[in-house]
Amino acid sequence: MSREINAIGLDIGSSRVRCVIGEAAENGKMNIVGIGEAESRGLRRGIVTSAEAVSESIRRAVGEAERVSGLEAEAAMVNLSGEHFRGENKAGVVAVAGAGREITEDDVSRAVESASAMQLPAGWEIFSRLPQEFIIDGQDGITEPVGMSGARLESLVHIVIGPSAGRQNLDKAVKRAGLSVERMMLEPLAAAESTLTDDDKEYGCALVNLGSEITSVMVFGRGAVQHTAVFPFGSLHFTKDIAVGLRVSIQEANKIKQDYGCVAGFLMGDEERQQVIEIVPVGRSESRRLSKEILCDIMQPRAVELLQHVAHEIAKTRSSIPSGVVLTGGGSLARGMVEIAEQVFDAPTRLGFIEENYFGGLAGEVQSPAWAVACGLALASVRSQIRDLHSHGRSKSKKVAAWFENFRERFR
Ligand SMILES: Nc1ncnc2c1ncn2[C@@H]1O[C@H](COP(=O)(O)OP(=O)(O)OP(=O)(O)O)[C@@H](O)[C@H]1O
Ligand SMILES: [Mg+2]
Repeated sequence: MSREINAIGLDIGSSRVRCVIGEAAENGKMNIVGIGEAESRGLRRGIVTSAEAVSESIRRAVGEAERVSGLEAEAAMVNLSGEHFRGENKAGVVAVAGAGREITEDDVSRAVESASAMQLPAGWEIFSRLPQEFIIDGQDGITEPVGMSGARLESLVHIVIGPSAGRQNLDKAVKRAGLSVERMMLEPLAAAESTLTDDDKEYGCALVNLGSEITSVMVFGRGAVQHTAVFPFGSLHFTKDIAVGLRVSIQEANKIKQDYGCVAGFLMGDEERQQVIEIVPVGRSESRRLSKEILCDIMQPRAVELLQHVAHEIAKTRSSIPSGVVLTGGGSLARGMVEIAEQVFDAPTRLGFIEENYFGGLAGEVQSPAWAVACGLALASVRSQIRDLHSHGRSKSKKVAAWFENFRERFR
């Protein structure tokens, strides 16, 4: 594959900005050639509150990835986050008018458009149209209708809507950092791109991205997105609980959480429960002693509470998820998170590491669910550029191609 296909995945989070530079490789794989990370400033719950501060964090993360790769970043695939996103399943229908009633890309485009006709709240827009399936003259389950014959084409489309301002301000912050935005992609969709297999999406699974301030969920089934939900909480809540409960600074609470925290008490033996951690309360010079059990008593109920909200949302969809739940994002790294999630979801649960069949190069350096989004963004960019190359010269409309982006492997 040509070395010219370079992709920049830029995951702008509330606590970290991560950048992955990738190159197209053999067999549809992407070689990771650059990685950069910086502390994030100027974002609250995924929304830009200071464009300059965000730009500076982006410059630092991208600069590091550029140095590692020796490449210069130009256009980035950027994650879209925020607490207000909403996913809805819509249906549309059109009559097929062409010669011999053969379905064209234009018919498909009209069918998706017809499903997208909806009343939006003021200042909101459609972020993603993700086709689920098509129905031709009552025959359902069709994934590639172009070229088929029929008189009536129905579409089932998962549509994600949200406020425009968040996207526009993020766009400005990226441009201010000297990059252009290739496209924006919903955070859980990007995480799914790098961590889920086609089988996961086909048979049904839920991707849960536990960030610092935002938790997002996407439920997959029959190869397509069936449900999207976003919650305004994340791993920062544990940090705040620890800070309040132990009267330590946020920085120290974050460190205690990461170094000693556990959200599943049953993983700890008696000896470990009694192990002592030294903490320095705010305004004191002398340290205090605290057992790991007490720390777990602070974290576990919060973990159960947060996961119950997510489990309730998944249960509402009545989707079957035999492939289970996949946890990504830095919040999933808390010790015991998978084990406690497995209990709350009552479904097989695993951490979402990037799929080894999709990545090469420096993939070993990003073996953490916290990198799933950045890697997924870069991979989505590579895949979309390859698709564009293949469709070049054919009459494929860009608009239709864009709708099918990230849809399912068979459309690639
Ligand atoms: N080992 C660990 N144990 C517990 N928590 C961790 C660990 N490592 C990272 N975290 C937490 O994960 C969070 C960061 O996750 P992530 O980088 O996915 O968030 P983000 O993308 O910056 O935020 P968001 O997606 O909410 O905007 C932080 O709150 C951090 O404390
Ligand atoms: Mg994030």
